[in-house]
Amino acid sequence: MSTPMDVIVSLAKRRGFIFQSSEIYGGTGSCWDYGPLGVELKNNIKRVWWRDFVQQRGDMVGLDASILMHATVWKASGHVDNFTDPMVDCRECKRRFRADHIDELPWTHFCEATKGNKFQIPAGEACRHCGQRRTLCPECGKGQLTAPRQFNLMFKTFMGPVEEDASVTYLRPETAQGIFVNFDNVLQATRRKLPFGIAQIGKAFRNEITPGNFIFRTREFEQMEIEFFVNPHERIDGRPADEDWHDRWIEDCQRWFERYGLDPAHLKRHEHAHDELAHYAKRTVDILYEFPMGWSELMGIANRTDFDLKQHAKFSGKSLTWFDEERKEHVVPFVIEPSAGVDRALLAFLLDAYREEEVRGEKRTVLRFHPELAPVKIAVLPLLKKRPEIVATCHDLRTRLARRWITLYDDTAAIGRLYRRQDEVGTPYCVTVDVKTVGDAEKGETGDQRVTIRERDSMEQIRVPLPELEGVFAKLMDGTAWRDVAAAYPRAEG
Ligand code: GAP
Repeated sequence: MSTPMDVIVSLAKRRGFIFQSSEIYGGTGSCWDYGPLGVELKNNIKRVWWRDFVQQRGDMVGLDASILMHATVWKASGHVDNFTDPMVDCRECKRRFRADHIDELPWTHFCEATKGNKFQIPAGEACRHCGQRRTLCPECGKGQLTAPRQFNLMFKTFMGPVEEDASVTYLRPETAQGIFVNFDNVLQATRRKLPFGIAQIGKAFRNEITPGNFIFRTREFEQMEIEFFVNPHERIDGRPADEDWHDRWIEDCQRWFERYGLDPAHLKRHEHAHDELAHYAKRTVDILYEFPMGWSELMGIANRTDFDLKQHAKFSGKSLTWFDEERKEHVVPFVIEPSAGVDRALLAFLLDAYREEEVRGEKRTVLRFHPELAPVKIAVLPLLKKRPEIVATCHDLRTRLARRWITLYDDTAAIGRLYRRQDEVGTPYCVTVDVKTVGDAEKGETGDQRVTIRERDSMEQIRVPLPELEGVFAKLMDGTAWRDVAAAYPRAEG
């Protein structure tokens, strides 16, 4: 069963992952701020995505384009004319809804054709007796809904000091267009051959009519996008190259989410029907995650054909082609676009990592994050904070380990509680310094110079000599299984 959203929202606030934006002013339901742990988690997601899809592949390069672009970009891309959602208003309570979302809700109808009988009509259906569709507001239940109007989701702003039509521009609603308009710059600078991709991570803005479900749908969010350029005249195993690459990217993206911890049973694919496809797409497949509100889009992988490059060539008057030396012809590449939301990915990783477990009759909450995603990798904890040698050893250790991994020191509670706190934020390893480590100088005892490492998921503990700590953590962070590393050291009692 999926973790309830309110549980995650509350944990996220309490432990400093995510706060509501401008909360002291009453907040906004459409923007969120990432706190000390949230920013680490988000950076980790972006870092591993960039490493896996850009730095480790031979056929990818990166880009960081500006958010504000020439206004004609959005005319050429079709966003000025097509980036709209149908919107309806309640005449009574003045609330606003997406017409297509309202269709997804069942509704109550007093049917005049049957002398005012009351019917519960299923989502998306009309009354079987009078043929009427929902006309009343789903929130207040009283107000008539207006007819749907198209509402453009782009945020408008002005470039320069004068607020006039000529200076209107938009906050980008997707990072993709920054890649398309730089296609030729990247090609000239890197001398790439098809197929190759350009990736970008950055903010995007959409004036969503109904933002909601925490960070799932917001008005300001981040995207991790790839535009992968393919020669449509090539064939791979008898198929057009763009179709083959599209399938490969769908596989790679789904496997990436699984690799960093999402349960495969919580993921599935949705093939867009013809009437669902965006104006630019030949085929689109969404990867859905089972969020608490139901199966919803985590990311989309579209075959955008040559639509964008052709449009920008038409509007800018510049050639956006690749010269095929073998065939001696200019080619407008087809584009496969894996497009993921950073915030949505983060929400899925949080939900999937969340567990409530019972340990020796006590409840423990644990975020079983993949170690690469965990905001804090190691917590150094003193067993007794009144012993200066223990505390000094802890501080020394924290400084040493923090050179390579995010490491914190905490002495604000007894050890059991300190472990629970680290479990709750997903810290994979705790290091504890105790009396046995440092000995007792007054009695002339030097201690065994070993510390306890506790692993979050198994809660097993081992005793490791201080000089070997970096080596042990290097192995663990590099992906060596805990059981293989732990086998070389004596167990410590929990
Ligand atoms: N360039 C293609 C594109 O932008 P999209 O399906 O509109 O396609 C891609 O967006 C991804 O961006 C989505 O799958 C989702 O993860 C994320 N996303 C889109 N709108 C969002 C919003 N309002 N809030 C949070 N994430 C959003």
